[in-house]
Amino acid sequence: MHRIAIFASGKGSNADNLCRYFENHPVIRISLIITDRKEAGVLDVAEKHGIEHLYFNKAAWLQPQLIIDDLQKRSIDFIVLAGFLKLVPPAVIHAYNRRIINIHPALLPKFGGRGMFGMHVHEAVANAKEKETGITIHYVNEQYDKGDVIFQARVSLTENDTPETIAIKVHELEMKHFPVEAERLLSKKE
Ligand code: GRF
Repeated sequence: MHRIAIFASGKGSNADNLCRYFENHPVIRISLIITDRKEAGVLDVAEKHGIEHLYFNKAAWLQPQLIIDDLQKRSIDFIVLAGFLKLVPPAVIHAYNRRIINIHPALLPKFGGRGMFGMHVHEAVANAKEKETGITIHYVNEQYDKGDVIFQARVSLTENDTPETIAIKVHELEMKHFPVEAERLLSKKE
């Protein structure tokens, strides 16, 4: 049995989708949702699915061993970042080497890095008049959006696209691919 912890800071539509997809899965379970924001919508998602959730404040993130202890106590073997805005502490990355993935709402290495989240990404894509955008699922390392790429999916853009329409197109890709790719990856890990 794989036991996943989701880290999220926002409204949690990806977390919701992952919870739904893995409900009743024979070997993968979403066991824990961790947030760095007390008011995050993802906490309602956790409640809705009856999944244990923990909030860690700023001070706690500076003592990552506390977080690692909580993960290990629950036999978490894989971490999925789904709209998690904080840099994951290096100690957590070392404890979960190549067992942490993130989804980024653009085609990395373009439009990644610090400050590139949410609508900022789609605004940058629109301003650059890109012909396509997409999603990138990648391993997490100590820098924002720099870990090895696992999967990308693309969608075409036209000159009529706005940041809002780009967001809708990218969201569709996230819903379609993220759980499936997480499942595919976990099926290759022991
Ligand atoms: C998604 O666009 C995801 O790609 C990015 O953050 C956003 C999270 O949205 N990393 P939500 O909280 O899952 O609705």
